[in-house]
Amino acid sequence: DQERLNQIIQQAKDELGDELFIPGHHYQKDEVIAFADARGDSLELARKSAHTSAKHIVFCGVHFMAETADILSAEDQHVYLPDLRAGCSMADMADINQTERAWERLTEQLGDTILPMTYVNSTAAIKAFVGKYGGATTTSSNCEQMMTWAFSQKERILFLPDQHLGRNTAYDLGIPLEHMAVWDPILEILNYDGDLEDIKVILWKGHCSVHENFTVPNVEAVRDEHPNMSVIVHPECKREVVELSDDAGSTRHIIQTIEAAPLGSEWAIGTEMNLVKRLIKENPDKHIISLNPHMCPCLTMNRIDLPHLAWCLDSLRRGEPINRITVDQATSDQATAALERMLNR
Ligand code: 13P
Ligand code: SF4
Repeated sequence: DQERLNQIIQQAKDELGDELFIPGHHYQKDEVIAFADARGDSLELARKSAHTSAKHIVFCGVHFMAETADILSAEDQHVYLPDLRAGCSMADMADINQTERAWERLTEQLGDTILPMTYVNSTAAIKAFVGKYGGATTTSSNCEQMMTWAFSQKERILFLPDQHLGRNTAYDLGIPLEHMAVWDPILEILNYDGDLEDIKVILWKGHCSVHENFTVPNVEAVRDEHPNMSVIVHPECKREVVELSDDAGSTRHIIQTIEAAPLGSEWAIGTEMNLVKRLIKENPDKHIISLNPHMCPCLTMNRIDLPHLAWCLDSLRRGEPINRITVDQATSDQATAALERMLNR
């Protein structure tokens, strides 16, 4: 039962002390977040994983976050993911072989004018690919800054793997939609009507299966039923949804906005369910709802639960660790280049 699991987790935390660091992403369940040493968005957790001196990093988040922590930590620090099935469907939408084929085709057509960029929600192999060609990673909280940097390097960008974050950010930087093409990795075609020379951004055709559940009819329903309500969404939502919303930003931006909002204000939030539920609970003086009334869970984030956390921590306490995440040295070196171009800014 939960009491017993809490005891196992607490015992491991007590025994391991400073040797253990547990980062927890904002989308994790409350009962898991209760044991996190740091909670944050992707950028904050990447920075904290790079700076901790703990020997064991038990990542309460998804696979690409644990890989990033392994890349950024020292050789004698080890990273674990309590449930190895906690992946990310968006990261899986950009496979390294597909990416190399796309790169070959795109550079054949457009020459040496493209800089690859990847959202951190991608595999280590994709980060290494981007690092190798001089590009950088980005998160949802620094994407405008990273895209501006990318345009100072090359004429156009290949943005992996989330077309929505790429499109929303480029649009905010003043790039018209007519200058954005979409690369379809399954059909291996570039969707673009105009002259290839006019392309500024090539968006990889990937998306987040959680955020695609926030729709234009959801925003219209809120406008109808709650005329005083503001709508805030994550930039992984589609362009049309972001366009109709009052604000968009990373999980950290959403949290800061809600916390700073006046008492009695009303909010519809378009992001993962655990964060929306936590904001409702922590802000009883504000009226907060999910933009999609069905609430939208990230199934893979939710795979990290108390039984898996207890199992993983107990294995460390006993000195027989399970579920270690490792990135091989060659991949790690190239991925580090892409991550450092972001973290050093
Ligand atoms: P951020 O916390 O950086 O906004 O990322 C959201 C997300 O989808 C993580 O998977
Ligand atoms: Fe991946 Fe979306 Fe889940 Fe984030 S919320 S881990 S992008 S599937």
